[in-house]
Amino acid sequence: MDKKWSTKLIHFDAKVPEGFRSLSTPVYRGSTVLFSHAAAVRDEWDQYEFGYSYGLYGTPTVLQLAERICELEHGHRTLLTPGGQCAISFINLALLKAGDHILVPHSIYEPNRLFANEVLQRFGVKVTFYDPTLGSGIEALLRPSTRLIWTESPGSVTMEVQDIPAICQAAHRAGAMVILDNTWSAGVLFDAFGHGVDITMQALTKYVGGHSDLLLGSVTARDKQTFDRLGAAQQLLGAAVSPDDASLALRGLKTLAVRLRAIGAAAMDLAQWLAERPEMEIILHPALPSCPGHELWRRDFTGSSGVFSIVFREEFSKQQVLSFVDALELFEIGYSWAGVTSLAVAYDFRGNKNRPNYGHRIVRLNIGLEDIEDLREDLARGLKAL
Ligand SMILES: Cc1ncc(COP(=O)(O)O)c(C=O)c1O
Repeated sequence: MDKKWSTKLIHFDAKVPEGFRSLSTPVYRGSTVLFSHAAAVRDEWDQYEFGYSYGLYGTPTVLQLAERICELEHGHRTLLTPGGQCAISFINLALLKAGDHILVPHSIYEPNRLFANEVLQRFGVKVTFYDPTLGSGIEALLRPSTRLIWTESPGSVTMEVQDIPAICQAAHRAGAMVILDNTWSAGVLFDAFGHGVDITMQALTKYVGGHSDLLLGSVTARDKQTFDRLGAAQQLLGAAVSPDDASLALRGLKTLAVRLRAIGAAAMDLAQWLAERPEMEIILHPALPSCPGHELWRRDFTGSSGVFSIVFREEFSKQQVLSFVDALELFEIGYSWAGVTSLAVAYDFRGNKNRPNYGHRIVRLNIGLEDIEDLREDLARGLKAL
């Protein structure tokens, strides 16, 4: 058909050579997905089964990231969400209904705890918080209505390593599912499904992204039945993922192994050095015997990443702990972690009777990719400022 120029802006005949091969995954953007003929139109979320239907369910860029996370975690299939916290709320909303009961450890990422307390309880879900070190003792907390047990290992800030196999056994005997926030392990240092977990989630924002410049989450299901429940909910919750962010995460994946190796080794070295310092009461690094659950880490994990916490001795005031953080020049102050920049954040657990008694004396460190001797010098500078 002979088209006017304004029509050609949209329906063009211009051609480029075919056969371009590159090492990077193209960024496919798209909300509308084209069907070949009128009768082929269908709105199905499962694009693996029915083919592409709408950008909300993922363009090829997003699906490639999902499949590659799934491959690394040995799951059945993975869905992506616009952030790690969205993965958490999404799992809860997809699987729970009024009258259900869930178990959440005290050591869980704080917004996960708040979602349970403030949103789920409002919708009639009963929530019990539990001691993360309970292991098989969790059996005593299970009720006929218990649907989910949340786990995070090691826990946020206080770093307790959980007995995931024992929790899974107790849960499965009672017909409940176990969900693991597997972010600290980047989905690779702990084989969640091999240890019995039913659903994992990660904040890909952290190690997979790796450069503090994107927000993404993943939800990986052990089997098709669970994946189908999650997928149907994703269609209705409408949590779409940007292909540009997925493309950055795909780039992050290429260097994940070397980053984790370097960061893990540096964090271990600095944790051991800090453990020798007289200002320290305890170092909460899963690979050190001082960390609650260290023996479980030795049994179940294949390595450690770059986040750990340090607890100052009792004589140090809150002001002194803050002065330590402020005196650091290379460690920046900020939330999130797992990027290439080292970070330090002081926490205050006074008044929280459910967390170990570390009070105002706990600081979480994220080790980045700076020269380790410079980081050691920086920490020594901070300690001098106490
Ligand atoms: C353990 C853990 N899970 C989930 C999240 C949430 O991830 P996002 O920041 O991508 O929402 C975080 C963020 O700090 C986290 O530390």
